[in-house]
Amino acid sequence: MAQLKILHYGHPLLREKAFDLRGVGRRERELISAMAETMYAANGIGLAATQVGVLERLFIVDVDQQPDDPATRRLRVFINPEIVWESEEDGPFEEGCLSIPGIHGEIYRPTRIRIFARDENFEPFEMEADELLARVIQHENDHLNGILFVDRLALLKRSEIAGDLNRLKRATLEELAQLQGKEYPIALGM
Ligand code: NI
Repeated sequence: MAQLKILHYGHPLLREKAFDLRGVGRRERELISAMAETMYAANGIGLAATQVGVLERLFIVDVDQQPDDPATRRLRVFINPEIVWESEEDGPFEEGCLSIPGIHGEIYRPTRIRIFARDENFEPFEMEADELLARVIQHENDHLNGILFVDRLALLKRSEIAGDLNRLKRATLEELAQLQGKEYPIALGM
């Protein structure tokens, strides 16, 4: 299974709202497997389908992995997720994103959440999450709605990184322009 191309800031698909999945078949299993390979290769702890150009409500998370130790991996799959409760208490955390390389910023989010979703077999489940897991779930869930962590930064911090974001966006749009007329290189076996 090939790795997938992670779309970068400025790509219009990152701003789209994703659609519910109706089930999990061979195609979805291949997508999940390719997303996992892509996330681990990029040393990420979460990846949403939107980030690989697939507008489906699906993301994967692994907050248990230790670097370079595949035995510690614990992949969690969330399909058609719904955050059904969030704590009033919120807290800060320095977030980054595989789609926005080189940029980090402190974001406040609820520290605990409850989420309803379907797993890799399309079986429904509900779980409560806190700490890093709650953080990543909220970040990935945002991707499915076209929201990026930089949208949630305080205004002052946003203006600090505005130049970096613009450079990233220009590079993405230039790459897209060069690809015009050619097939976008999403390496999915289907
Ligand atoms: Ni992200």
